Amino acid sequence: MSDTPAHPHERKVYYPGQQAVQSARISGMDAYRALCAEAEADYTGFWARLGKEHLQWQQPFTRVLDDSQAPFYKWFDDGKLNVSYNCLDVHVQAGKGDKTAIVFEADDGTVTRVSYSELLDKVGRFANALKSLGVNKGDRVVIYMPMSVEGVVAMQACARIGATHSVVFGGFSAQSLRDRIEDAGAVLVITADEQRRGGKSLPLKAIVDEALALGGCETVRHVVVYRRTGGQVAFNPPRDLWMHELTAGQSPDCPPIWVEAEHPLFLLYTSGSTGKPKGVQHSSAGYLLWAKLTMLWTFDIRPDDLFWCTADIGWVTGHSYIAYGPLACGATEIMFEGVPTYPDAGRFWKMIEQHKVTIFYTAPTAIRSLIKAAETNPAVHPRNYDLGSLRILGTVGEPINPAAWEWYYEHIGGGRCPVVDTWWQTETGGHMITPLPGATPMVPGSCTLPLPGITAEVVDETGHGVPWGTGGILVIKKPWPSMIRTIWGDPERFKKSYYPEELGGYYLAGDGAIRDANDGYFTITGRIDDVLNVSGHRMGTMEIESALVSHPLVAEAAVVGRPDDITGEAICAFVVLKRSRPEGEEAQKIAAELRAHVGMEIGPIAKPRDIRFGDNLPKTRSGKIMRRLLRSLAKGEAVTQDTSTLENPAILDQLGKTY
Ligand code: WT7
Repeated sequence: MSDTPAHPHERKVYYPGQQAVQSARISGMDAYRALCAEAEADYTGFWARLGKEHLQWQQPFTRVLDDSQAPFYKWFDDGKLNVSYNCLDVHVQAGKGDKTAIVFEADDGTVTRVSYSELLDKVGRFANALKSLGVNKGDRVVIYMPMSVEGVVAMQACARIGATHSVVFGGFSAQSLRDRIEDAGAVLVITADEQRRGGKSLPLKAIVDEALALGGCETVRHVVVYRRTGGQVAFNPPRDLWMHELTAGQSPDCPPIWVEAEHPLFLLYTSGSTGKPKGVQHSSAGYLLWAKLTMLWTFDIRPDDLFWCTADIGWVTGHSYIAYGPLACGATEIMFEGVPTYPDAGRFWKMIEQHKVTIFYTAPTAIRSLIKAAETNPAVHPRNYDLGSLRILGTVGEPINPAAWEWYYEHIGGGRCPVVDTWWQTETGGHMITPLPGATPMVPGSCTLPLPGITAEVVDETGHGVPWGTGGILVIKKPWPSMIRTIWGDPERFKKSYYPEELGGYYLAGDGAIRDANDGYFTITGRIDDVLNVSGHRMGTMEIESALVSHPLVAEAAVVGRPDDITGEAICAFVVLKRSRPEGEEAQKIAAELRAHVGMEIGPIAKPRDIRFGDNLPKTRSGKIMRRLLRSLAKGEAVTQDTSTLENPAILDQLGKTY
């Protein structure tokens, strides 16, 4: 799977097939350009048209964009609507109540189908239950749940009553959960007894108990527990309540609470360059509009499609492309509880065959690991499965290397399905730069062109455009409806992180990019800040460093990423202990202890792959850690940097050894 960097003139171009183009909603590049031109000619008129066409308003908006408090932009702000109403009631009222909304496949293969009417019932009951607990509009509710219909019900029920949810991925530790509960000031936590993944039961409720016991979560009045496995869990009434008992006596009829367009639908914590994760705040109307529109544009979703996004609801992908976007379109979607490698690495392909999935959306990491699995075990090679139902493929979360793209295109898509490489972020709410399946010629490794209305550009540090063919930083020049509104509780940090003065009002994505010299296609070159992307999961180096130095043995730590064939990047930690530098078995023991410690502080996804010990860290004369040098060491490259200022050149040898 080695990739030679694509030479601009050797780029291989893949054209969407005639059929894909003809039937597509945005059919052909002229249709794409026409939409772009519409947005350019009358930016607010363009968004106003879409906002009216695609959302149902209880009170229509008259104002489109309010930029008087920039960069705290407001969209459609005098309009009122309800997100859950737009995802559920509209379809039931249109006579589509019997249509399947969610096909849930459990870890053990059990399949459950939930129709739109049934989902509306469940959401109504649970929303009434939340109200009975005194949860009000604007209250924050933390959701720490497994992949489950109930997880979506919890999110939609919050939306129905105007409570702002904050979903925390089930892989985060008690400490991380506690930090998020405290920062959000949540009044309620919704969880499950346990989750099932890969044939194992993993705790959730116990971690909530631990998080709350750590203190600082005094705002939490109740913990609502969905019984998933029936495993033994500690129960602490009246704080703890079972979801099924709570909803049993409730009416399924819960009139939606109409909220302002800008009302915060959710907070989602994500990593930045400093230690503390930031609570990205999203709106109701602008967010939902884009979640829905990108389903229609990027996935060209149709009534008879079976859509499958493999993300977890704990990430933004699961918000936009499981909990909201597909439902806003009245689509049928798969929701999968388990992991791609259980009972074997053919699970995804088997599920596509069995359910006749038509649109499949996953992460490059998953593709790369399944390629490796197929190479080592022919029984799980996709050629053993009938994947003929597929018509569109997508990737998200990290750059996809051309070799993996081509494998995906050939072996999963049968050379027939357009691959949409979607670039976006937690902060953008939905896709930003991506091919359109019925229009854009595709180049493996490039996310191609921005969606209509999205003003992406590559600029230098002063906000000036750089010529095509020259690398720079990726910005979005104009605000768009689904953009981050603020960082919860920290508007100053929002301004500093995303609208730094030097850029003159452009949104700073935090990624580097380059546009192709000939066609202007975007290729993402990776983060320009101290953020790592491991298996599509975003992690701050400082966050991991703080976790390491909170261990009593650690004096100092520096974390960098190094390229990895499967996970994209791997975490490499350079550590100085308060005691003498360990070697051999002892170093291995301490490394294991440090990994476990990071797992406790943040979660298993943040555990460093490599740990290296030195007497000290390489620093410049002014005392700054030489991170570029550490990156070379992490890659096992020859050090070409100037090391003449190093007090102790012997550390280069020490830091070359991995434990
Ligand atoms: C970061 C955002 C997008 C939702 C899931 C991750 C990287 C995302 C791509 C892509 C290259 C990508 C960027 C971005 N990224 N998609 N198609 N090609 N890089 O959301 O956790 O907020 O991470 O993921 O570096 O900034 P997130």
